Amino acid sequence: MRVSHIAGGVLLAAAAGAAGFAVLAWQPEIEPVEPPARAAFDQAEIAEGAKLAALGNCLQCHTAPGGKPFAGGYPLETPFGTIHGTNITPDPETGIGTWSAEAFRRAMAEGVGRSGEHLYPGFPYDHFTRVTDRDNRALYAYLMTREPVRAEAPPNRLPLPLTFRPLLAGWKLLFLEAGEYRPDPERSDEWNRGAYLAEGLAHCGACHTPRNALGAREAGREFAGGFSEGWYAPALDRDSAAPVPWTRDALFDYLRTGVSEDHAVASGPMAPVVRNLSDVPDADIRAIATYVADRMGAPDGPAPAPPAPPPPAPVARAGGEERGQEQGRAAAIYAGACATCHEPGGPLQFQAPVALDRATSLAQPNPSNAIRAILHGVETPDAAAQPLMPGFANALTDAQVAELTAWLRTRFSGGPAWDDLEAEVAEARSGRSAE
Ligand code: HEC
Ligand code: HEC
Ligand code: HEC
Repeated sequence: MRVSHIAGGVLLAAAAGAAGFAVLAWQPEIEPVEPPARAAFDQAEIAEGAKLAALGNCLQCHTAPGGKPFAGGYPLETPFGTIHGTNITPDPETGIGTWSAEAFRRAMAEGVGRSGEHLYPGFPYDHFTRVTDRDNRALYAYLMTREPVRAEAPPNRLPLPLTFRPLLAGWKLLFLEAGEYRPDPERSDEWNRGAYLAEGLAHCGACHTPRNALGAREAGREFAGGFSEGWYAPALDRDSAAPVPWTRDALFDYLRTGVSEDHAVASGPMAPVVRNLSDVPDADIRAIATYVADRMGAPDGPAPAPPAPPPPAPVARAGGEERGQEQGRAAAIYAGACATCHEPGGPLQFQAPVALDRATSLAQPNPSNAIRAILHGVETPDAAAQPLMPGFANALTDAQVAELTAWLRTRFSGGPAWDDLEAEVAEARSGRSAE
């Protein structure tokens, strides 16, 4: 599945590349400049740029684990291979020190590097193209006043012919709709601000939208749910599987604090998104919440009452004795290892904030996030030392995690049983991507 996916993609990319090649492949170099002095930038513009960089999550993809901020080397896993975030500090040799403001704007808006090379869309310029010139200038001011760090990003791990960048011209011809965000005059300023941020700089759809074989967002399915580094980024449209419907206020809480008590704690790739948003003012978070709530068709007013918890699943069902035994084993693990925190009446300091019958991860169409929470645990949103939930990767076998996950799904969610749980557990354990 994985291999044919890639091979098909490569063939298509080659065909598309041939067509797009003549039109778009060649882009001029933009002359290098002397790295601008700090004094060349306005303080207020630098401060604005800092907030915008937080919204754009630039730090996440441009900082290696344990590395210097923005110095590059973060390995971004894609279905096609590993692409490294580059050094975007103002170092003249290994960073963007010699980039003019125009070279920076072109990279954001068109995905073209200073020397004219096409950039991989792992850099989400299909979203950043919506950013206004004014905001690009502020981002440039912020980045050019960071500490320059000499650091070369490691080489990407991509199969031939994807290492041949001119092919990306074909991809862009097919999938890049370049251009600034155009406000919808029918909508409020707040809605438009939210749309501008969510679709542009904050690139929510980069993870929350399904992708086609060429790695582009599927047309017409914006926010219908996608994958990011093996995690499922749930649907943020009317297909949201959340047992308690999201509201604007719940979305605000979740994006502001990483916790919505009726839904979830932000984990996996969503955790750094929330951490970065902590530098963003309330008004912008509220605007994003307003826009997303509208896409979800969220009810106005206070949150609706949560659903009554489903009755406890009978331990043995008509499925036969074996199924009954599996469920019995899973229930025993749950009682021993999980119930202290996940059942009411346990010691208060351990009580998990989101009751499992409301937890969105158990209600999704796939088990990716539930399994990852069980194996790897749940961090606090502010990444403080004490995790909220320990990981059970060392305590439980793949088969036990699979049985437990199947049991949780039946016990706490009305959704249909998940398939192939053991394979998914093995994948999650090895860190390989699900997509
Ligand atoms: C999802 C990951 C991701 C995020 C978020 C991201 N980038 Fe990148 N960026 C990349 C990758 C990967 C590359 C390298 C692309 C390539 O090699 O073709 C890149 C390349 C770039 C480049 C071109 C640098 C060069 O040397 O060619 C610039 C400029 C840039 N990013 C700026 C930003 C800014 C500013 C932000 C935040 C607003 C940002 N990026 C957010 C992944 C990301
Ligand atoms: C880097 C990928 C990525 C980006 C960018 C991203 N998300 Fe997420 N998001 C995820 C993942 C993965 C989850 C599931 C996390 C979990 O289960 O704890 C998630 C969960 C969520 C949820 C909870 C949904 C539910 O029903 O449980 C909301 C709401 C959300 N994201 C909103 C946003 C918004 C708004 C943005 C843009 C500001 C955004 N996300 C950007 C990956 C991402
Ligand atoms: C020390 C307390 C503790 C223990 C023990 C514990 N959990 Fe959790 N669990 C939490 C907290 C806290 C969260 C995150 C907030 C929430 O969802 O309530 C969580 C979240 C979850 C989630 C949802 C993750 C999400 O983001 O939607 C699942 C599923 C889960 N736990 C299953 C289990 C299972 C299965 C066990 C036993 C093998 C277990 N937990 C043991 C505290 C615990």
